[in-house]
Amino acid sequence: MEQKNKGELKDLKYNEMLKKKIEKLKKKRNAVIIVHNYQRDEVQEIADISGDSLALSQAAVRTDSEVIVFCGVQFMAESASILNPGKTVLLPVKEAGCPLADMITPEKLRLKKNEHPGAAVVCYVNSSAEVKAESDIACTSSNAIEVVRSLKEKQVIFVPDKNLGRYVQSQVPEKEIILWEGFCPTHIRVQEEDIVRSKEAHPGAEVIAHPECNPEVLALSDHICSTGGMFAYVKGSKSKEFIISTECGMLYKLQKDNPGKSFYLPTLKLVCANMKLITLGWVAHSLENLVYEVKVSDDIREKARKTLERMLAVTARKG
Ligand code: 13P
Repeated sequence: MEQKNKGELKDLKYNEMLKKKIEKLKKKRNAVIIVHNYQRDEVQEIADISGDSLALSQAAVRTDSEVIVFCGVQFMAESASILNPGKTVLLPVKEAGCPLADMITPEKLRLKKNEHPGAAVVCYVNSSAEVKAESDIACTSSNAIEVVRSLKEKQVIFVPDKNLGRYVQSQVPEKEIILWEGFCPTHIRVQEEDIVRSKEAHPGAEVIAHPECNPEVLALSDHICSTGGMFAYVKGSKSKEFIISTECGMLYKLQKDNPGKSFYLPTLKLVCANMKLITLGWVAHSLENLVYEVKVSDDIREKARKTLERMLAVTARKG
C-alpha cells in the first residue's frame, strides 16, 4: 500500500473535515454540486454530478435544487445561470476563467458576421454569454459535428477554437467552415513528439485525444472525443492501456472507474491552472456565504439562452 507522509496525512484529515462541512452546508442551502472532469481529485470526490460540458449543461436544466455550486470555469457557470434564471448559480472562485473564451469578443464576432452575411454562427460553449448572444447555435466538443450537420446553411462561422473547428470540418466536408484564431493554451501544449514518445514507451496503448489538441496530435490519435466520450470509449475498449491527451484531471475518474486499466499523459504540461483554482475550502466558503453568484443581464441572457437551447434540442433529437 502507498505510504503517506505526515504532511499528506494532515491534508487528508483537513479535507475530510471540509467534506463534512460541505455536506452540512449543502443540505442547509438545498444545493447541488456540479463538477467538471478537469477539477482537482478531491473536488471530484464531492460531486453530486460530474461530466463534460454538455452533460453539465443538461444536468443544470434538470436540477430541482435552489443553489447550483458550479466547480468548473466561468463560461460553464454562466451557461448554467442562463439556462436556470430562477436559480442561484455560484462559482466558488470568481477568477476561474477560460483563456480560450477570452479569445473572442462580441464586437469582433459582429465584424466577422458582416464579412459573411449568409453564414450560420456556431459558438463553442467555451465563450462568453455576449458571444453566445451573437451566435445562432452553441456546441460542445461532444456534439459539434451533429450541430454543424444540423444547419441548413452551407457556410459556418465556427468560434472560437480553431482546432475543434478544423476537426469538425474534416468530419463534415459538405460544409464550408470559417475558422476563428482561438485555441486552448493547455491542449496546444501537447506536441506530436510527445505522442510519438508515449507510444514508444507504451506500444500497446490506444491514444485518445480531445479535439482541442493540435491537428498533428489528432492525426496520431486512435480516437477523438470529449472528456465524457473518453469514459464511454475506455469502458467499451478491450485495450488495457491508454494515452490520454487532455487535461490531467481526467485521470482521477478514468483510474477509479477502470481499476484494471492504465492511463498515461503524453506530457505533464497538461494542467489547466484555472480549473485547479477551486479547492474544497473555496467550495465550503461558497456555500457558507453564497458566493460568487454568476448572473447575466436579461437581454443578453434571453439571446444566449436561445443559442444554448437550440444546441440542447439538436442533442435531444439524437436521444
Ligand atoms: P469537454 O466538453 O470535453 O468536457 O471539454 C471542456 C473543455 O473546456 C475542454 O477544454
